[in-house]
Amino acid sequence: MSTTSASPLPHWPYPRWIAHRGAGKLAPENTLAAFRLGAQHGYRMFECDTKLSSDGVPFLMHDATLERTTNGRGTGGDQPWSALAQLDAGGWHSRQHAGEPLPTLENLARFCIANSYFLNIEIKPTPGLEEKTGQVVGELCTRLWKNEAVPPLFSSFRPEALAGARATAPHLPRALLLDTLWDGCLDVARELGCVAIVCNHALWDRALVAQVQGWGLRALSYTVNDEWAAQRLIELGTDGIITDRVDLFSPALQA
Ligand code: G3P
Ligand code: MG
Repeated sequence: MSTTSASPLPHWPYPRWIAHRGAGKLAPENTLAAFRLGAQHGYRMFECDTKLSSDGVPFLMHDATLERTTNGRGTGGDQPWSALAQLDAGGWHSRQHAGEPLPTLENLARFCIANSYFLNIEIKPTPGLEEKTGQVVGELCTRLWKNEAVPPLFSSFRPEALAGARATAPHLPRALLLDTLWDGCLDVARELGCVAIVCNHALWDRALVAQVQGWGLRALSYTVNDEWAAQRLIELGTDGIITDRVDLFSPALQA
C-alpha cells in the first residue's frame, strides 16, 4: 500500500447498524419477509445480495446455486426471471415461510424507498458476469433512487463489479468488501472512487482504522454477531456494523 496525505471523510448519512440479508437467520435470507422482520426489530438499514437472472433481471440471492435457499436446482444466473419467480425461497427455512418468493432488487428498492429505509446492495455476481452485473444494478438504481435524498450503498468483493456500477452510476457510492487485506486493496478502492471499506470485522485494528479513515474511506464490518466484537468495533471508531443478530442488537439502544 502506498502512503498518502490524509483525506477528509465522506459525508455519511447511513446508520451504524445494518441488518444482514434482512434479518440474519431469523427469516429466509434476502426475502421481503426478512427485511420486514429486520424493520420490526428497529433496523433502518439492510444489506442484501444481488445477481442477474439469465435475462438480466437483478434479483436477491447469496449463493451462485439455488439449492441451499430455494427448491430449485443449478445456477441461479442460468435461469430466466420467469422461472426464478416460481421458486419457493422460504420453505427451506421454516414452514411459516413456505412459498415465500425470491424478490427482485426492484421489489426491495420499492420497500426501502416507501419506508425511508437505507440499503446496502452487495453486488454478488454469478462468476464471469462481474462487470455486467455492476452495470445493470447501477442503471436500475439510478432510475429507482432518482428522487431520493439518500442513495443506496453498493459493495462488492469483486472490483470489476464496482467498476461496472461506476460506469452506469458514477454518482452512487461504492464500497470494497475485503475478507483479507490483499496486496494493493486500498489502492484499488481509491482507484474505484470508493467511499468505504467493508471488512471482515476481525481484520480491523487501530492501525488499519487510522489508515483507512486517513485515506478518506469509511470503515464498516461484517458479520458481527457478538457483543464483545461490536463493542470493540465501536471503540475503534468504525462507522458501520452489519449483523445477523437483529434480536440481540437494538439500533435504538446501541451507540
Ligand atoms: O456484505 C457483507 C457480507 O454480506 C459479505 O459476505 O458472504 O455474507 O455476502 P456474505
Ligand atoms: Mg452479502
